[in-house]
Amino acid sequence: MTLMKIASIVGARPQFIKIAPLCREFKRHKFIKHLIIHTDQHYDYNMSKVFFDSLEIPQPDYHLEVGSGTHGYQTGEMIKRVEKVLIKERPEWTVVYGDTNSTLAGAVAAVKLKIPVAHVEAGLRSFNKGMPEEINRLLTDHISDVLFCPTETAMRNLKQEGINQGIHVVGDVMYDSLLYNLQLAERHSLILEKLQLDPKNYALVTVHRAENTDNPDRLRAIFNALRKITQEGIPVIIPLHPRTRKQLELLKVPVDRLQIIEPLQYLDMLLLQKQAKIVLTDSGGIQKEAFFLQVPCITLRRETEWVETVETGWNILADIDEKKIVLYARDFPDPSHNVGQEAFGNGRAAEKISAVFYQSMNN
Ligand code: UD1
Repeated sequence: MTLMKIASIVGARPQFIKIAPLCREFKRHKFIKHLIIHTDQHYDYNMSKVFFDSLEIPQPDYHLEVGSGTHGYQTGEMIKRVEKVLIKERPEWTVVYGDTNSTLAGAVAAVKLKIPVAHVEAGLRSFNKGMPEEINRLLTDHISDVLFCPTETAMRNLKQEGINQGIHVVGDVMYDSLLYNLQLAERHSLILEKLQLDPKNYALVTVHRAENTDNPDRLRAIFNALRKITQEGIPVIIPLHPRTRKQLELLKVPVDRLQIIEPLQYLDMLLLQKQAKIVLTDSGGIQKEAFFLQVPCITLRRETEWVETVETGWNILADIDEKKIVLYARDFPDPSHNVGQEAFGNGRAAEKISAVFYQSMNN
């Protein structure tokens, strides 16, 4: 049997959640040899290794040890180091995930070597080119051979940009991950006891987007609003991203009354989201997970890529408006619309993706 070598390039926390269902799926197929290349964009134990362990992702075949730096430095180093591995391994496919600098670097390195590129989570748009993620996904989509879209909206976005070939709407691999792990989280996670929280009685917050952390006015406004929420008697829990921690310290932003903790591993985070009264976030993935779990979400941004979550009433874009944030954290308007998770597939996106690779072998 001919073997197909597929090289996945990952580097940042959300990509580990996205690759996990594909690792399971690729392992089932004898025709696939799956290589994992880790750029080490995220390198702290609790931003990286803990996800490989808890999601049972095989150890990476390559660690590129790029680490942090400016966008140009980080992306440039990644392109150089990924290229070296791809020249040595010559995979039939390179797979990149989401919208980080690791995604763009992987796609650029592969396409210049004429190795076909598949983009998982293609077609997402915020229509805000001020976000590094928007630039990464725009460029990646336009040089990818195969575009795996999580939703119909994503497919329409691609078509509007003149991309008509290689598109497959397969559903969302993050939904696959959530469905696979939710029961495990409910059975094994002790995070509520550990943090002494009552179900449906706390706000869970994540903040890490550059547009918020690197703008002192926005960061202060968000943390002011969060402190106001605690005055309403609602505990506020914040698993804090290292980028945000550094900025809060640098700017001496007051964080009294807020329960700031280290970043959490996936199962703990899932359970904490499921049992939250409300989620407040500027992350893309967390908006979606809240929606899958039917927990109301306040998004600390002006726009979202995940429009379905807003259209169904489960997500409100409050930006940094203190009044709105506090009001909706206390009383979230009842989502009147039908749930709509089917817009994100049925938890079998990884299966559909591997079927596309299988077909490509026979063409
Ligand atoms: C990156 C992605 C973002 C994604 C996020 C998930 C880009 C442009 N952004 O943002 O889309 O939502 O990952 O977390 O790729 N740091 C550590 N330890 C780590 C990792 C980072 O201390 O393990 C600190 C470093 O000081 C670094 C800063 O966080 O400079 C930012 O890290 P970086 O990977 O550049 O971007 P993220 O903010 O994590």
